[in-house]
Amino acid sequence: MNESLNQSATFEAVMARSTLPEWLLALLGHDRAPGEGEAVTAFGQTLTMQSGILRTDLETSAKQTQTADAFSYKWAQRRSYEGSSRKTQLRDWLTERYGDVTAEDWLQNAPETCVLLDAGCGAGVSAQQLFGQVLSRIRYLGVDVSDAVEIAAQNFADQGIAGGFMQADITRLPLPPESVDIILAEGSLHHTDSTEGALKSLALLLKPGGRFMFYIYKKKGPIREFTDDDVRAKLQEMTPEEAWNEVMALSKLGKAIGELDVELEVPEDVALLEIPAGPINLQRFLYWHVFKCFYHPDLDLDEINHINFDWYAPRNAHRQTSDEVRAWCANAGLHVEREVVEDAGITIISRKGQ
Ligand SMILES: C[S@@+](CC[C@H](N)C(=O)[O-])C[C@H]1O[C@@H](n2cnc3c(N)ncnc32)[C@H](O)[C@@H]1O
Repeated sequence: MNESLNQSATFEAVMARSTLPEWLLALLGHDRAPGEGEAVTAFGQTLTMQSGILRTDLETSAKQTQTADAFSYKWAQRRSYEGSSRKTQLRDWLTERYGDVTAEDWLQNAPETCVLLDAGCGAGVSAQQLFGQVLSRIRYLGVDVSDAVEIAAQNFADQGIAGGFMQADITRLPLPPESVDIILAEGSLHHTDSTEGALKSLALLLKPGGRFMFYIYKKKGPIREFTDDDVRAKLQEMTPEEAWNEVMALSKLGKAIGELDVELEVPEDVALLEIPAGPINLQRFLYWHVFKCFYHPDLDLDEINHINFDWYAPRNAHRQTSDEVRAWCANAGLHVEREVVEDAGITIISRKGQ
């Protein structure tokens, strides 16, 4: 290969691996990548390049800051979510709810210029499991308010998938209106200060005809709601590390109950407590109606604790009803194409009106 071709191939490879690819620079209204420590402005925000990632200077509320700190800690525990059983389980759970989106015409026919915004990307694991190889042929933009975005960028680089990354607040993103083709907000909207506000502001970034896919926690029965609020309030007083250790006791209890593998027959509906009649495993009964104590026989204690910590530690963790979510979609001009409501949450694929 001659020298200049070689150099240009190297340049392209570097740009493909960069957390700030050319198409993202263009979306931000710039044509030159800032150097380390350099700041750029975009849509009224100052973004500074730190450790190779653009980060907003906007302040967040105390609740949002605590939530971001909890996630920075959680996603740094890579061992607790990168195992193959956990990945398979995550893929199955995502597919049950969203279906196999890679088989959908709108994704199969998506052009190379298609921008997929992973709003609240964490370590980027859900997007990878849900979109698989498709990520390599479209433009992936991972945004998170926490330091998890660094892990996502690393994770994508490790897998050889190009992507753009920013540390910013998904309720105030410095992107042009109607500039994004697909939004995935898997488990993130309810961790912002306002689930409805996040949905509304993200919908404005979506192109007409674009898809908005998201998962939001569902409101549970009264005992579970009480325990959730009580445990969450106690953990707020602790550092993320202390909270991780405190939740571990609860995870061990859930595991002990799960290993009993006992079936219970609820004789009739207990309407007052929103507990339905019928057979249910004891661990699932406690999990759904008394306190969240995730357990799965294929996962080890760290992996189990990761899921319980994810639930209890962040200060922001709002729960909604299906009616609320449908009304918000209608107000934001989103037509619901698929809705899966299960005990844990509400999953929606919606399309923005043309
Ligand atoms: C439960 S995790 C889900 C991560 C990822 N979507 C996944 O499914 O693996 C929620 C993520 O939303 C992020 N988040 C919460 N509030 C946010 C906000 N206002 N702006 C951007 N990210 C936010 C958290 O930092 C966290 O990484």
